[in-house]
Amino acid sequence: MKLSDSQIEAFDRDGYIFIPNVFSATEIATLTAELPGAFAQVRDEVVREKGSTAPRSAFHLQTWNPVYGALSRHPRLLGPGAQLLGSDRLYMHQFKVNAKAAFDGAVWQWHQDYATWKADDDMPEPNAFNIALFLAEANEFNGPLMFIPGSHKRGAIESSWDTTTTSYPLWTIDNDTVTKLVERGGIVAPKGPAGSILIFHSCLVHASGSNLTPWSRWIVYLSLNRCDNAIRRFKRPDWIAARDFAPLEPLGDDCLAPFAAAVRAAE
Ligand code: SIN
Ligand code: MN
Repeated sequence: MKLSDSQIEAFDRDGYIFIPNVFSATEIATLTAELPGAFAQVRDEVVREKGSTAPRSAFHLQTWNPVYGALSRHPRLLGPGAQLLGSDRLYMHQFKVNAKAAFDGAVWQWHQDYATWKADDDMPEPNAFNIALFLAEANEFNGPLMFIPGSHKRGAIESSWDTTTTSYPLWTIDNDTVTKLVERGGIVAPKGPAGSILIFHSCLVHASGSNLTPWSRWIVYLSLNRCDNAIRRFKRPDWIAARDFAPLEPLGDDCLAPFAAAVRAAE
């Protein structure tokens, strides 16, 4: 998949691009069939919501689930990555599925991903970003991602270490700074069906609210980084901040198809 010039301009201006219906219903069914089993596993990589057994995130899933292993090398995700980062040599800094589970999904405070990647992982430059693939519909009720358009232009913003709000520690941005950024840029919450993708800059300020609905808002995130921008501090476990800096080799466009056949055969 190739991004158009106007999509690349929008990414530079706003810090994100939303593209609906990139993955088919069959591909999404193949991916979501894996989630109940993955979230049921008791292992460090599966993080629960604070004070609850509800799943918050499944990290590094591409290494312990073959369907997500294929997804992590999907050309419809790596292609735009190479275009926007200006290099074919990209590695996976982080890979996770966020559950934002029905009734239980908790907030993500306002933050920039690069704040954490810089402070904790010593990533040299913000030459990295996220590609989010919606595995379920994100609507106005189930805790969609919220962005402050254009906020990536500010570069790395001073942030503080929040270990109390949720089960997952994060470098977050204070309310006064968010207020000023919102006065200038407003807030958007790109919403759409499963199969949509959302690409966003590592300095884009974002957050999401809790999910009080019966609809889980599953999203898988690929955090791609240029191989020549690899991290230099190894404070966090490698399933949160990867240390395998080998370039990802894209698979074929139909790389999820063999797993779809397996799902059908098991039914
Ligand atoms: C994140 O910012 O890394 C996740 C936010 C979300 O899934 O709502
Ligand atoms: Mn984030």
